[in-house]
Amino acid sequence: MNKRQILLFSLGVAACVAAAWTLVTLVKTDRGPGGAPRVVATGKADIGGPFSLVDHNGRAVTDADFRGKHMLVFFGFTHCPDVCPLELQTVGRAMDLLGEKAEALVPVFISVDPARDTPEQLKGYVPAFHPRMVGLTGSPEQVAAAAKAYRVYYRKAPGTAPGAADYQVDHTAFTYLMGPDGEFLHFFRPQTGPAEMAEKIAGFLD
Ligand code: NI
Repeated sequence: MNKRQILLFSLGVAACVAAAWTLVTLVKTDRGPGGAPRVVATGKADIGGPFSLVDHNGRAVTDADFRGKHMLVFFGFTHCPDVCPLELQTVGRAMDLLGEKAEALVPVFISVDPARDTPEQLKGYVPAFHPRMVGLTGSPEQVAAAAKAYRVYYRKAPGTAPGAADYQVDHTAFTYLMGPDGEFLHFFRPQTGPAEMAEKIAGFLD
């Protein structure tokens, strides 16, 4: 997946997310001062939800294990040549910029390539980005369910030969901020800078 393909793919996904957001945003009408009707938008995008996966130490974990902490979630694969390392570096740097506030936050990397991303593989990968980063993988079905919950799309790059050991995975490259009850708070587009990410997160942690 070259840079241009990634951009096009991300734009397509962004449109899907925007559409989903609009659909699930609940709009209610109430009466403002003087009785004039006003429209108040409430609700959250329908992103996130239950997952059941395996962490980089081989332990079974679910979304419930993260309750009480904010999660910063990114889906990708360890063989990704550029986008994943770049985005995970941003997450790590944002954590550093947050200082003590980052203690309320767990950075989570969820693999969309369970065939190659074993717990052992993740264990050798995630600490490079942040010492507290949690790597998650699982069966193809578990990963598919987690990705579906987050509205993450992924597929083996078109043109991959069947059975090829060396392949790329096209995937959504947003980073999701989830609240302590597992609720969706915000998503960051690819190439968001660490300072911008940290500032936005700090606003939710305060
Ligand atoms: Ni990637």
